[in-house]
Amino acid sequence: MFHDLQFTISDWTYFLFHAVKAIYMTDPHAVARRFVILISGRGSNMQQIIEQSRSQGWPAEFVRVIANETHAPGIEWARQQGLATAVVPHREFADRQAFDNRLAEVIEADRPDYVLLAGFMRILTPGFVAKFRNRLVNIHPSLLPAFPGLKTHEQAIAAGVGWHGCTVHFVTDQLDHGPIIAQAAVPVKPNDTPEALSERVLSVEHQIYPRAVRWLAEGRVQINQAGQVALEGVTQRHLWKDE
Ligand code: GRF
Repeated sequence: MFHDLQFTISDWTYFLFHAVKAIYMTDPHAVARRFVILISGRGSNMQQIIEQSRSQGWPAEFVRVIANETHAPGIEWARQQGLATAVVPHREFADRQAFDNRLAEVIEADRPDYVLLAGFMRILTPGFVAKFRNRLVNIHPSLLPAFPGLKTHEQAIAAGVGWHGCTVHFVTDQLDHGPIIAQAAVPVKPNDTPEALSERVLSVEHQIYPRAVRWLAEGRVQINQAGQVALEGVTQRHLWKDE
């Protein structure tokens, strides 16, 4: 009797649609977003992101960790974790442009949805930033727009501010600037040293960056028409610690 069955094109489309939908719904990793992480040094933010993703089961795949420093301690950690790694040593390139071109090639080979800068200490050229527009994310150790650039903890102490912290943001051509995803604040204490303040800030970096990456993995992050980040289904966006 089955040989009498006739399937029309619309029947096949219907079957195909439901088969694909079933695969996506039963296997969350079928829709896991792909991340490349760029580091220059110890990579403690990278470690937190990867460890929290593993323990909390985010729909995220960390497809490669790339360092611009051959001996970055973070790259060794990534290797030991069995992650794919690459080193693109900036000193071996004639100029910034040549380095960025190669870096972009290495990144694109893994087809990431997002590129995360985690203590990546190179200024990226406008061409590179344009290639990864709205997909390039950074953590900066200050409450932007205050204190862009280096030595942010010294800058905060010198300015006499009561609060300091960190910002997770999309990267634009302007240094340490761009749509803010989340911020975390800590108090500046009397007689604080840059070292003590930086440790206090780092402890919240390790909470807020993983949280923001999880939102990216879950597809909750959009940039609206005003150029601001809109988050879907997130109740606590920013974080502060009062001691
Ligand atoms: C962090 O403070 C980060 O905000 C800044 O560089 C530092 C990197 O630390 N961009 P780590 O390499 O993640 O430990």
